[in-house]
Amino acid sequence: MTSGKQGLSTQCVHAGEFDDAFGSPHTPLYDTTTFKFDSTDDLLDVIEGRREGFLYTRYGMNPTIKNLEAKLADLDGAEASLVFSSGMAALSALFLAYGHRGIACVGDAYGGTLELLSSQLPGLGMRTHQLLTPDLQALDAVLTNGIKLVFFETPTNPRLAVIDIRKVAELAHARGALVVVDNTFATPVNQRPLALGADIVMQSATKYLGGHSDITAGVLSAKASLLEPVLPWRKNLGQMLAPEVAHRLARSLSTLTIRVERQNASALAVAEYLAQHEKVRRVYYPGLPGFHGHDLAATQMSGFGGMVTFECKGTRADAARVVDQLQLFSLAPSLGGVESLVTQPFTTSHHNMSAEERSERGISDVMIRLSIGLEDQADLIADLAQALAD
Ligand SMILES: Cc1ncc(COP(=O)(O)O)c(C=O)c1O
Repeated sequence: MTSGKQGLSTQCVHAGEFDDAFGSPHTPLYDTTTFKFDSTDDLLDVIEGRREGFLYTRYGMNPTIKNLEAKLADLDGAEASLVFSSGMAALSALFLAYGHRGIACVGDAYGGTLELLSSQLPGLGMRTHQLLTPDLQALDAVLTNGIKLVFFETPTNPRLAVIDIRKVAELAHARGALVVVDNTFATPVNQRPLALGADIVMQSATKYLGGHSDITAGVLSAKASLLEPVLPWRKNLGQMLAPEVAHRLARSLSTLTIRVERQNASALAVAEYLAQHEKVRRVYYPGLPGFHGHDLAATQMSGFGGMVTFECKGTRADAARVVDQLQLFSLAPSLGGVESLVTQPFTTSHHNMSAEERSERGISDVMIRLSIGLEDQADLIADLAQALAD
C-alpha cells in the first residue's frame, strides 16, 4: 500500500498491491467466484463484518478486485472506489442510487449517458435536465427546483469544452446538491475533480485507464459513505468486473502516467500542426492558447489530454475523404488506447441525433475527432499531412 503523499507514478505502481504468501510483487489474479471458510463462525465473522475477508466475487469481495479498487482510490485521491463491468454500468448504478432526487447534466456528454438521461431514467420516473452550456444562472434555477445531482464531463466530447469544476461545485453545494464529474477524457494524471470540489468522480476505464483497447470497465471514486448507496445496485444488477479484467486493468494502471504524459505531448504537437494547416477550419484542444477553454483548463488541469478535434474546410464528403485516407489512425469509435483512432461525431457518438440537435450542440459534419496514441509524433503528423493533402 502507498500513502496519498506519494507521487502519482509511485501510486500507479504500488497502491493497492499486497504481497501474497508466495511473495508476489503484485496482487495475483484470484480467478475464483467464491472463497472457503474454516468454520461457520469464521463465515459469520466475515458476513457480519467482524473480520475483513473475501466471500463472493460478484459482491466485490475478491482480493484482485479489492487491490484494483484500492489502487484507483489512491489515484483519484478518494477514500474508496467501486469498479464495474463498464463505464455505463458505473453511471447507471450511480444514477439509480441517486437519481430519485433529480439529475442535471451540464454541457455535452457521451451518447450513452445522454440516452440514459433523456429516455431511460425518465421512464423510471426520474427528473432529468440537460443544460447544453455551463450557464451557472440556468443551473441555479434548476437546482432551486429541487434537483440534487449535478453531472458533467470536462473536457467534453467531442468539442473539448472545459467546465469550471470549482464554480459548479460551489453553486451545487450551496443548493445541497452533489457533483459528479466524468473524468474519462482527463484521467487523474491531468485532472483531480475531487480535489477541485466534486463529490464523486466517474471514469470509463475502457479508455485511458485500461489504455490498450482490450478491456471494458468503469469506476466510481468518492468518500466511502457516498458510494454506500451504489453498492447494492452494483451487487444486484450483477455489474461486477471479472477478476481477469480487474487484474489486467491493475497492470495497465502501472503505466498510466507515462502513457498519458506522452499522449498529452503528442496531442499538443498534432493540435499545433493542424492549427496552422490551410485546409483546417478550426481546432479544438484545451492546450492551444487561443482555444476558448484554455485559461480555465490551465487552472484546473495539469495536462491537456490526448484528444484533439478539428474541422476541415469543405464539405461532409471532404471530411470523410480525410478520415478514409488516414493510414495510421484507425477509424474506430473509442479513445485512450496505445493506438491512434479517428472518428466523426456525426457518424458515431452523435449519430442518433437529428441534424438540428447536432447543430444546437455545435457538432458539424466536417468535425473529426482524434484519439492520440503512443506512435511517434512525426509519423502521426505525416499521416495527417498526407490525408489532408488532396
Ligand atoms: C466520456 C465517456 N463516459 C462514459 C463512457 C462509457 O464507457 P463504457 O464504454 O466503458 O461503458 C464513454 C464511452 O465512450 C465515454 O467516452
